[in-house]
Amino acid sequence: MVTASVAPVVAELEQRFHVTWERTDRLFALVAGDAMLDRPIPLRHPLIFYVGHLSAFAWNHVCRGVLGGPSLDARLDEIFDRGIDPDVDDPTRCHPHPAVPDEWPELGEVLAYRDRVRAEILSSMQDIVIAPSTTVMAVNARALVMALEHEQMHQETLLYIVQQLPAERKVRPRPPAVYPEWDALRTRPIAIPGGTATLGADFGKLDFGWDNEFPSVTVTVPEFVIDSTPVTNAEFLQFVAAGGYGRRELWDEADWTWKERTGLRHPTFWTLRDGVWRYRTVLDELRFGTARDWPVYVSLAEARVFARWRGGRLPTEAEFHRAAYGTPGGAERSFPWGDEAPRPEHGNFHFAYWRRSRSARIPRARAPGACTSSSATAGNGPRPRSRRFPASTRTSRPTRATPPTSSTASTTC
Ligand SMILES: [Fe+2]
Repeated sequence: MVTASVAPVVAELEQRFHVTWERTDRLFALVAGDAMLDRPIPLRHPLIFYVGHLSAFAWNHVCRGVLGGPSLDARLDEIFDRGIDPDVDDPTRCHPHPAVPDEWPELGEVLAYRDRVRAEILSSMQDIVIAPSTTVMAVNARALVMALEHEQMHQETLLYIVQQLPAERKVRPRPPAVYPEWDALRTRPIAIPGGTATLGADFGKLDFGWDNEFPSVTVTVPEFVIDSTPVTNAEFLQFVAAGGYGRRELWDEADWTWKERTGLRHPTFWTLRDGVWRYRTVLDELRFGTARDWPVYVSLAEARVFARWRGGRLPTEAEFHRAAYGTPGGAERSFPWGDEAPRPEHGNFHFAYWRRSRSARIPRARAPGACTSSSATAGNGPRPRSRRFPASTRTSRPTRATPPTSSTASTTC
């Protein structure tokens, strides 16, 4: 029985878990049954690992960690505990993870494990909420929120993993994805005055945050100029057509080495067939023209060299924060549109389009007097920025900074 005092908290958490699990299930439903052992990205585990991993992570940290419960299934708890987590500085190396089994469990066994974990999480929700605060993860049910955040982060990484799965290895959703065609936005340079940006957060002010998000840091940002919209596929095509991938002088040493090793000659999700460019979404291969005004999806290395080719540079994290969350009066907002909680009219959330979109095409998504935000396909609340990115400016002179493009890099396992 749920006691009245914690009933609202339990009900809200249950709702958040149901929404998150439904989204996860929609993602795995895209994968054909016989493709669960595929590894679209060789550095990652087969897709079936992630089916079990999301549940094992929740079980190990919530029911075992906070409640001190036993193993649910000792073998599955172990093999699904951690994934392959490439070292960001040296992607050829990985952080420690359990030994890869000779044979992965059958999908039915993994799904049964997943369902048992979900049922246990729901039935234990109140116990977790009122658990004695003997550990930092037990305070305010922090472990539960971490399990939610972890699953939502994996949804983002799963999107780009599934996007690299061949079309014949996927199952298209019903109803099918729609690709509304909007008129192109004209980008314009915007001068952002000097000011401060708050990066990260203080531990006590969030329900949950990852360790590299604490504490908050206030950074002074000199004035700069930034484009009002993200770089589009059409703009990036100019760089490709100008031979940008072969111009050694534009590339940093490490970026060039990586690019040569991968053999990349254009963005990963573009294909050139009979001299005609096409664009691969999570679900479909489209004519390039359909995607020409969408934000280009490239790695940090490609984004960096594009910006250099165009006579600019990528903005620092603090600059992007100023441009997207700052106000003309100097105050900072929680979201580009203000402090209201995200609603569908604010952005591209919950796989609404199964692709990236310019948020400026979505009503009320625009930042207050600054640049538009580049939305992800799966959106959550605002996150403090990771310390992996520079928190101070690289230049103090007014310089055009190109808005960041999406990166395929991730540190989640
Ligand atoms: Fe993970």
